[in-house]
Parts: sequence; structure tokens; C-alpha cells
Amino acid sequence: MTTPVAFDFAELDLEAIAGAEGRVVVLVGADGKLDKAARRVNRLTKGALQRAVDAEGFGKMKQGDARDLGFPAGLAAEALQLIKLDRNADGEAARKAGAAIGKALGGKSALILAPQHKCVEDVVLGSVLRAYAFKDHKTGNDNENGAQGGALKVMVTDATKAREAASAVAALAEGVFFTRDLVSEPSNVLTTTEFAARLEQLRDLGVEVEVLGEDELERLGMRTLLAVGQGSESPSQVVVMQWKGGASEAPFALIGKGVVFDTGGISLKPAGGMEDMTMDMGGAGVVAGVMKAIALRKAKANIVALVGLVENMPDGRAQRPGDVVRSMKGDTVEVINTDAEGRLVLADVLWYAQERFKPTGMVDLATLTGAIIIGLGHEMAGVFSNDDDLCDAFLKAAKTEGEGAWRMPLAPAYDKQLKSLIADMKNVGGRPAGSITAAQFLQRFVKEGVPWIHLDIAGVASVKSDTTLAPKGATGWGVLALNRLIADKYEG
Ligand code: BES
Ligand code: MN
Ligand code: ZN
Repeated sequence: MTTPVAFDFAELDLEAIAGAEGRVVVLVGADGKLDKAARRVNRLTKGALQRAVDAEGFGKMKQGDARDLGFPAGLAAEALQLIKLDRNADGEAARKAGAAIGKALGGKSALILAPQHKCVEDVVLGSVLRAYAFKDHKTGNDNENGAQGGALKVMVTDATKAREAASAVAALAEGVFFTRDLVSEPSNVLTTTEFAARLEQLRDLGVEVEVLGEDELERLGMRTLLAVGQGSESPSQVVVMQWKGGASEAPFALIGKGVVFDTGGISLKPAGGMEDMTMDMGGAGVVAGVMKAIALRKAKANIVALVGLVENMPDGRAQRPGDVVRSMKGDTVEVINTDAEGRLVLADVLWYAQERFKPTGMVDLATLTGAIIIGLGHEMAGVFSNDDDLCDAFLKAAKTEGEGAWRMPLAPAYDKQLKSLIADMKNVGGRPAGSITAAQFLQRFVKEGVPWIHLDIAGVASVKSDTTLAPKGATGWGVLALNRLIADKYEG
């Protein structure tokens, strides 16, 4: 488990700056004016800060950019970090500034001097999120309990006000870290049972958690889900999580694809890059992170979350290409390609969610198609929806949180690609519009009138280079946007 860096606020104490150990961070706006704290730093460093601000390089820095002045004379700190950030900078720039702090932290502590800046909560969130490092399988690291080491102290003018503004930051960071840890975990560790066990720990936060095993899923008729997992030694499971923070209204539902490893099954994937399929539970991981965040901040909303946990393995008992399976809904599917397994899992979980909870709306998340990476790369998730209001609310939330999201079409014209000779549908629609036909497949399991969004996160759940708020690897994409969607639309 990875524990976010601790942080706290204090009122500006000029006398404490010289002796602060670790790193000291000063924020200077584009006008180059030094505030009270920066002036003290400048005096202590005998004008070094002013020289850095006057130097040509500072003019070229963008909002949120940073540079280090190493081993500054006059300070006990080993580095003085100068960040360009206007006092009234927006949340995005403030998070970027924070990310520069978090990236450079390296297990040290930092004193952040921000007596005049708005959005200090965004600076802190950016720092904490960017300081993430998954070290559970590195031997010899000194932070065996997963703590990132160090701590952040932010000096402000009104510590009470800042603490209040940042009240959700720790909850959000814990949610995002929960997702990132799950996505980072290898598949020999994060089996379906281990995943379920980690979700059961959310009970400690007041989330009701049920684990449905194979017998129960069989009784419910979830044959498309079970067919995917039948070649694995790990049992297929559906985990249902309920957060009842609202009144008596019907819940909003989150649904996640939790394929703990995707070999492709009998339609085996090529060896090169197959190891990346440890992240094929990314949708379920995001759902888990959102539940943790909203439980920690005690959201005033009713949210139900369901994840389908399976492993897609080739085996003597595995399903074959050409098999016909019956979904819980009753529709039959001809499994042309066993590697198009995510939609088979989601079909049953979507249907079950609607039958049992009659949700006011639902969002599913899945690392569903390689085709979405061809379309949108690693910058944006694909957004498919049958409801403009819900979709616009989500896109707005994603934009506010800086999580790339782009709406893609749904249209009945694509349905013909899913026609099967012997069953109600095939599970693949051929190469053209691969992400859209996958979404069209899912839509068959969404009831008339239920507002629904499908998020194809194959390109964004885990990436091979650093992003603003995450080191390379698991991003936690979607936790912040969905948390905001819930806050904006379902909490009062
Ligand atoms: N899990 C994959 C999709 C994926 C690809 C996720 C790359 C993350 C990165 C999914 O189950 C899959 O295999 N999809 C197939 C569908 C095809 C057989 C219709 C794909 O995209 O190739
Ligand atoms: Mn697959
Ligand atoms: Zn998959």
C-alpha cells in the first residue's frame, strides 16, 4: 500500500525559514515581485533568489514551472525551489506547481511558502499526487510501510482557512493511490480473490461490501461473465459496494471491468507487451478509488459500485472461439474472439446493476479496446453516452480536473457489424470502429431510459511516460473527475 505524503498548514513564521531542513519552496508570480516570505528567503540567501528571478531564465518559465537552487547559502535546506506561480493562478497551474514540488521531493520534507496564493489546496494536491511511487516490490527501501517519507508544511496567512479548503485533498489522494496501487500490482499478487479482499477493507470506512462467488453468479445467470473466467484457477467474482451517504433516493452506479490478467484466452495475445495486461482491471481500480475517496470525505450521495473480477486464461476449460453463451439479460452471444472479453464481463454486471438497484444513471469504466488508443492515444479516454446531460456533466468535471476525455459516437448503424448467424449477436464487430462497436455491444445491456456513460480507458489507465500529476505507470485517471461528477450532480 502506498501512503500519501502527510501535509499540514501553519501561519507564516519568518523565523522558521532559515532552519527548515529538506527543501524550501518559494512561489513568485510572473511580475517577479517577492512577497514577505520570499523577501526573507532572499535576505537569508544574500540576494540569490532575486538574482534567479532577474535572470533571463525566469522570464521563459511558464506558470507552474520550477527550478532548483542547490545547497543555498543561508538556509539549512539542501535546495531552494523557485516556482513561477501568480497569486491568483487557476487550479490547473497551481496543481502543476504542486507537481513540481512532488516530483522533486524524493522522500524529503518540504516547507512551502505561500502566504498570498489562492488555490493552496491545489498546490498540495498536485504535490501529493506527483510524489507517488509504487515500491511494494522493491527490496531494501526504507519506507517499508509504504509511506513516501517526508512531509509537506505549507505556510499561509490563514491556516484554518487553508485547512478547510484542503479538507478533501487527503481523501482524494488516498482514492487515487488506491487505484494506482491496484493497477500497478502484478497479476500473481492481485488475483481475483486478493482484489476482492482489498475491496472488503473498504468496510472500515463505512462502505457495505458483498462478494458474489461463482455459485451465486451461476444462479443469477451471469454466463457471459463466467465464461470469461472459466479457464482460470482464480474464481470469478462480482463485488458490490454501497455507499449510503444520501437520503432515500435511488443510487448512481459505477461499474468496472476487472480482468486481473488478459492473455486473450484461446484467442491468445502475442507475447510482446502481454505483461501490460496486468492493468486490464483498471476500470475496477478506478471504481475502487472513487469509492474510497467518497467514503473518506463522507459524500452526501448514494453510490453503488460493482466490479466484475475475472482472469482471462487459455486452458482446457477455457471458452473457445465460436462458443455461444447466454447473458443474464437472456440475449445470446457468439464469442468470435475470446480476447474481446471485457464486454462479456460488463454485459452481465451492467444488467445486474440495473435489475437490483434501478440506478438513476450509470458510468462504466473499462480498458476495453486497443482501438481507442489508435483513436485518442494516451491523452484522452473515449466517452460514449446515451444521455447528453449526463455526458456534458462528466466532460465538464473531467475538464475541471485536467483528465482528458473526448466524446465518441454511438449509432444504430454500427449494429450491423455485430450480427451473428446463429446467436443474437457476436462479441466483435471487425476492425472498423472497434471502440464504437464495443460500446454498441455494451449499450444492448443498458435499459431504455437509463442515462449511461461508457469510458474506454485503455489508453489512459497506465502510461509509459510521466504525466503532470503522475510518474509513469498507473495514473488513476478518472478518480478525480468521477468524484467531482458525484459532488456536482448528486450531492444536494
Ligand atoms: N484488454 C484489451 C484491450 C486493451 C488493449 C487494453 C491495450 C489496454 C491496452 C481487450 O480485452 C482486448 O483484448 N480487446 C481487443 C478486442 C478485439 C479482439 C476486438 C483489442 O482491442 O484488440
Ligand atoms: Mn482482451
Ligand atoms: Zn481485456
